Amino acid sequence: MAAPSSLSRRRFLAGSLTVAGTAVLAGCTGRGSATTAGSSTSFGTPPPLAPKPGQNVVAATLTPTATTLDLGGTTVSTWAYGDAAPGPLIRASAGDLLRVTVDNQLSSDTSVHWHGIRLRNVADGVPGVTQDPIAAGAQYMYEFEVPDPGTYFFHPHTGVQLDRGLYAPLIIDDPAEPGQYDAEWIVVLDDWIDGTGTSPDDVLQDLTNGAGTSGGMGGMGHGSMNMGPAPFGDAGDVTYPYYVINGRNHTAPSVFEGSPGQRVRIRVINAASDTIFAVALGGHTFQVTHSDGFPVEPAQTGAFYIGMGERYDAIVTLGDGVFPLYAEPFNKTGAALAVVRTAAGDAPTVSARPGELSGDVLLGSDLTPAESALLPTQTPDRELDLSLNGQMQPYQWGMNGAVFGENEPLIVAEGERVRIRIVNMTMMAHPIHLHGHTFALTSSGLRKDTVLLAPMESRTIDLDADNAGDWALHCHNIYHAEAGMMTLLNYG
Ligand code: C2O
Ligand code: CU
Repeated sequence: MAAPSSLSRRRFLAGSLTVAGTAVLAGCTGRGSATTAGSSTSFGTPPPLAPKPGQNVVAATLTPTATTLDLGGTTVSTWAYGDAAPGPLIRASAGDLLRVTVDNQLSSDTSVHWHGIRLRNVADGVPGVTQDPIAAGAQYMYEFEVPDPGTYFFHPHTGVQLDRGLYAPLIIDDPAEPGQYDAEWIVVLDDWIDGTGTSPDDVLQDLTNGAGTSGGMGGMGHGSMNMGPAPFGDAGDVTYPYYVINGRNHTAPSVFEGSPGQRVRIRVINAASDTIFAVALGGHTFQVTHSDGFPVEPAQTGAFYIGMGERYDAIVTLGDGVFPLYAEPFNKTGAALAVVRTAAGDAPTVSARPGELSGDVLLGSDLTPAESALLPTQTPDRELDLSLNGQMQPYQWGMNGAVFGENEPLIVAEGERVRIRIVNMTMMAHPIHLHGHTFALTSSGLRKDTVLLAPMESRTIDLDADNAGDWALHCHNIYHAEAGMMTLLNYG
């Protein structure tokens, strides 16, 4: 951790005070980067992991490569795992050992992060923190156990590669689950720009050059603040030409074929880089059953929000007909569409915006955890503060007063119950994601690994420090993360 630990305690304290007063980041020298911090360290090859007696091994190969994709009438040059985005599903059962070989056919470094999985630290996939980058042309093997069932995904932790086509679902089945449904549908949402004349690297460069599209955060600390539309206000920086579901634009949507009365478990994954969606299936009610993999008290709703990096599972009982599954980008123009078909008839188009989106849209953080998902009650052994800082003009994002690499990691000790008070001191929404752990919102006990904070919102989370290592803690807006809105949770 060369970069973070070089910061003196005194300077850290001074930085916090500055931020508490004005929410201004500590300078823009030595911009932090998810790809370059600590890059002088060499991590070598992780120790091999042998299966335990009787343990099932799931093997897979991923080939990050430059390819051409058809989004549905629009062809784009992009990077993907193989020849499709989303890439190949990886599926295992809780307790299995995963062995995934990454064969990097890109002309660039890459890495793979297993988002939401409570895995061993060396397999977490963060260059400069848990491994060396996987060089162009190189192979790298990830070996780890998957302890918890649920809906997850994986993506690079290198630059803004997530905003290309490099993502795919990871489903961990529960061998003990009753599975009260007849069919399953994995729905991966994305905002798409790569290969349309602009790459994600161009987008990041434009943003840092001050060409942000969302108008900055003018009123910050100067009288009246315009929070923007409820509940997330200014929720994104980037204008996307396309929004896709399972890699398809609304002009040629992906279709789920079922039969009337069928109970379908829909696993929704938001793989977007800069977009919160509201999701509805026209004419249907969702029974939301899981949040970030963990069970909740089933909640009925016509629509729900999903932030970048979040996952929600819901059961629907299919009607008779043809229905739009609609993902509407929050406070942006456009829509993603997929189709559910249980009968003949014309497919709905993007103009068929479900009325459910005009009703109450569920906020994931309002869900109630299932009994089985609760953390045991315990007084925190340690309380930590995490402030989210930054603004659009100039484009600077950080945590605890500085960009990643200049901010101080949060330090915990193995075995502690840790409480983190997160304060969003910015005028944007941020989905905050912690690697290697699942936390509980103290407001309800809801278990999550990614939680959305609205502008100026505060949230307190509890977690058990039971997985030693150095873990990324960052905003899942990939442009914010890459601009420095990241820190580490380290075991001292
Ligand atoms: Cu999907 Cu570090 O994140
Ligand atoms: Cu953010």
